[in-house]
Amino acid sequence: MPLPLVGAPRGLRTILLPLSFLAIILVLIALYRSTESSGDFLKNLTTINGPKTQHADHHRPTNTHAPPKYKPTTTFAVPAVTDPFPLLASSTAAPPPIPAYNVPRDGLHRDYGLAYVPPLFIGFTRQWPMLLQCVVGYITAGWPPESIYVVENTGVQNSNADDKLSLQNPFYLNHTTLRRLGVNVLPTPVLLTFSQMQNFFLSTATARSWPYYFYSHQDVLVFSFEDGADVMKRPGDREWFFYDRQDELDVMRPPAAGQKGYRTIYENCLRELNRTVESEERWAFRWFQYDHLTLVNRAALDAVGGWDSLMPYYGSDCDMNARLEMDGWSMRHRRVGIINDVSTVMEDLSALYRDPNIVPKFVDPNPIAEEELEQLERPQGSEQNDEPEKEQADKPTEKRSEKGSKVAGVGVTKAVDYFRSLVKVADDMGTYKYRSDKYARNSWQNSQHGGTGEPYYYNAEGFASSFWILAEAGHEVFRQKWGHRDCNLVEETALQLDDQWRVEKDWED
Ligand SMILES: *[C@@H]1O[C@H](CO)[C@@H](O)[C@H](O)[C@H]1NC(C)=O
Ligand SMILES: *[C@@H]1O[C@H](CO)[C@@H](O)[C@H](O)[C@H]1NC(C)=O
Ligand SMILES: *[C@@H]1O[C@H](CO)[C@@H](O)[C@H](O)[C@H]1NC(C)=O
Repeated sequence: MPLPLVGAPRGLRTILLPLSFLAIILVLIALYRSTESSGDFLKNLTTINGPKTQHADHHRPTNTHAPPKYKPTTTFAVPAVTDPFPLLASSTAAPPPIPAYNVPRDGLHRDYGLAYVPPLFIGFTRQWPMLLQCVVGYITAGWPPESIYVVENTGVQNSNADDKLSLQNPFYLNHTTLRRLGVNVLPTPVLLTFSQMQNFFLSTATARSWPYYFYSHQDVLVFSFEDGADVMKRPGDREWFFYDRQDELDVMRPPAAGQKGYRTIYENCLRELNRTVESEERWAFRWFQYDHLTLVNRAALDAVGGWDSLMPYYGSDCDMNARLEMDGWSMRHRRVGIINDVSTVMEDLSALYRDPNIVPKFVDPNPIAEEELEQLERPQGSEQNDEPEKEQADKPTEKRSEKGSKVAGVGVTKAVDYFRSLVKVADDMGTYKYRSDKYARNSWQNSQHGGTGEPYYYNAEGFASSFWILAEAGHEVFRQKWGHRDCNLVEETALQLDDQWRVEKDWED
């Protein structure tokens, strides 16, 4: 976002003049001292202007202290990530058309009594290929791009907007690509934690007078019920809630694409919002595959004071849900479409546009060897209070392709066959993500290590380690706040809303 630079020209002059003198002097010195080619000299000059590598040219101070001891250098067997949407990355053409039956009708929201198009916030911190897949998934399933708000929470200031980061940088996000897809990018002013970002969604909705909004995680892949009924329980699914028999039939036996009454995931979301508001219930969330896609009622969050920012990541949802429930706000698991919680990316996202030349398949950006995984998964003493997500997640009910490896499709021509092959691949991606409890599910977060020397560079492993340290600190805050260790306060305790921070712990050490 350009800032008005009041008085910039004069200010610039006073800076630029000495700078150009400095440059001339440097050139003279260099020419005088150097016998090397000018190419080399130019390379060296860039290191003066801004180091291109992390360690180069950072001189150790000449004091009496011994130099630090370095950790063994990590070598990454991880392949460099590739852009998953070559078509968009390599041409200026408009994105391909989405399936005609998924094109959102103008003003559809008004059919459901809504005065504004409810926004869909998608928070982003790391791993562009996952985000791009998520966004393209929503768009091709029928979500109007102009109501999607990618919240750029990378902490790199304007570096992405200015095209300064490279694809291998975990915080890379391409504004141009998102704009070409028609979605909005909303930058956070500084790097926010999960809880802070949730509060940022809330404050944005307040500022724009949106009483309701949706948010989605960036690691999901969604579809509309194009093939009609879909009764499969996917990893991450909870017990679906139905209001009555009619509602159950309605949800579980939707008309397929092309049939009368077909609705996209977007229309189902509008419908769900309409129905929920109509019910006049005191409601907070409607969850579509736990919180992977969530409908939020601002009034509920305002009533209980929003997310607890002092629990940065995991644990914060346990706290939030408990407080809402204690205060009488309903939360229900509902069904609006096919949602897969994934850790991998389709090799070519053109598949989501049903490009007949592309065989849908996925690649793991950060494969972990089976033995290594077993090693990592071994219980580690103190980690008894684990991620809430993990505790609540249903295990996959059936073992599908063991390795979750690339799923080959055959030449699919009919739309429904193509769709089935897509859903199959996405289901395999979901199963693959949940193939082990913890490490494999989050390994995708470590798939980019580059960006050394780029603006706001941050060591990728350091970022990942810090994340888990803060996550654990959040668990500890939760435990002390409620005197209880496990996630489900309402079912497991007699605590009430104003008991927070006032009760002794309910367990023996
Ligand atoms: C550039 O730097 C390298 C080492 O950093 C040095 O060996 C070389 O002489 C320099 N070249 C010029 C043209 O200054
Ligand atoms: C729900 O949608 C119906 C039309 O389908 C509309 O008449 C009604 O006002 C809507 N309800 C709300 C609460 O917006
Ligand atoms: C962003 O994507 C566009 C294509 O949409 C590409 O031309 C441009 O080079 C990309 N920017 C960066 C910094 O990678």
